[in-house]
Amino acid sequence: MDMINKVSVIGLGKLGSPIVATLAERGFATHGADINEHYVTCINNGEAPVEEPLLNEMLKKNKELIQASLDVENAVYTTDATMIIVPTPSEENGEFSTAFVKEALKPIAKAIAKKDNFHVIVLTSTVLPGASESEIIPVLEQLSGKKCGVDFGYCYNPEFIALGSVVKNLLNPDFILIGESDQKSGELLEEFYKRYCENNPPIKRMKIVNAEITKISINTFVTTKISFANAITQLCDVIPGGNVDEVTSAVGLDSRIGLKYLKGGVGYGGPCFPRDNRALARVYDNFDLEHSIAKATDQINQKHAEFLVSKITKLIPEGGNVAILGLSYKPNTPVIEESQNIIVAKKLVEKGYSVTAYDPLGVENAKHILNDINYTYSVHECVKDKDVICLMTLWEEFTNLEPEDLSTDGKKPYLIDCWRVLDKDKFSNKVNLIQLGVN
Ligand SMILES: NC(=O)c1ccc[n+]([C@@H]2O[C@H](COP(=O)([O-])OP(=O)(O)OC[C@H]3O[C@@H](n4cnc5c(N)ncnc54)[C@H](O)[C@@H]3O)[C@@H](O)[C@H]2O)c1
Repeated sequence: MDMINKVSVIGLGKLGSPIVATLAERGFATHGADINEHYVTCINNGEAPVEEPLLNEMLKKNKELIQASLDVENAVYTTDATMIIVPTPSEENGEFSTAFVKEALKPIAKAIAKKDNFHVIVLTSTVLPGASESEIIPVLEQLSGKKCGVDFGYCYNPEFIALGSVVKNLLNPDFILIGESDQKSGELLEEFYKRYCENNPPIKRMKIVNAEITKISINTFVTTKISFANAITQLCDVIPGGNVDEVTSAVGLDSRIGLKYLKGGVGYGGPCFPRDNRALARVYDNFDLEHSIAKATDQINQKHAEFLVSKITKLIPEGGNVAILGLSYKPNTPVIEESQNIIVAKKLVEKGYSVTAYDPLGVENAKHILNDINYTYSVHECVKDKDVICLMTLWEEFTNLEPEDLSTDGKKPYLIDCWRVLDKDKFSNKVNLIQLGVN
């Protein structure tokens, strides 16, 4: 094989299904496989199995080039390269489990054993530094009876995407990261990405272990920036005249720092940032080294939720009614994993407050993990008769709020605007608007 033309994707979840859709969008014949029959049926029907902007349209439009099945072995056998995008859940100690990857390797290795031509296995799932060479490649070699780097290739190739903009991020990445078992595999994947990406990004090729370190280092650096901005938020919130946006919008102009992810507000959450950060700290521990930055970043993030809770509890006594606008950890996704909003809601309930929440997509997910709050299905219902309203997730529905959307029955509640998106003067007749990070 001198070119990757047909690609199999193993795991059709939050990352795998947008990859299938974008591959087809860029003209690649794609065979997706998953153990989840519902996901497979959705993809074959040209429907998105998960909530993600642009995904549904793209799957429908490119149905002809996409095939999905439960047959991993056949998907691998009939394609030139295979992307593995199955879960690598965090363990109690912060490490990532490779159990799902190893399970997926069984049919993958069977196909590799039967193939005559060179096949590239691409691991996209996040793993710990060293995992590919100590745990994954040996299993592939043993089960297939073939030699990595000679009979088949292996690349560690994580994606840097944000839920809510996965399709856009996949096609227009800042750069492509490839850890390669051998030169030929790296070259094949590099050439593939030149055809797949829309923006001609830089491509960094390196040893597998360095790509593994790079992946969690990047996420830890970003979380550090977020926690730094939130530490400034807390300071500006208490210091007379403080205003976090005035400070961070200037700090970020220094080209050594940059403005991205330097916005004070709610702490970070979601399926990647918190766990990648903790995993890096754990890897340091494993080598008897100390990564106090990663640990401090995590601590600041946890304390930031407490800071927000104390802001609310200082305003109203125990038993008060709090409305939380937003449950997902960021807008345009139903994902509530490690969402600070959920943490804040839980802590308020523990302290004896009555909490009501609304989120455009996240309510059903939240119900599974938090059942002692009231769920509503509109802003109107959520804020009715509350003492404090806390705007936490930047859904457009919330950032475009008008005073008349707040049906407060003559009562003038507090509204904590965590991201400072509402016009204070415009709302002054309706609520006592408090901007987080502004004194
Ligand atoms: N979601 C993100 O924002 C994101 C970003 C970067 C990296 N990642 C990484 O990508 C990986 C997958 O994440 P996700 O969010 O897409 O997970 P997900 O849970 O949404 O999807 C994983 C899919 O893999 C399938 N699967 C599990 N075992 C399988 C097997 N043996 N054979 C075939 N399919 C199998 C599951 O049924 C599921 O559909 C993780 O390692 C994650 O850390 C995710």
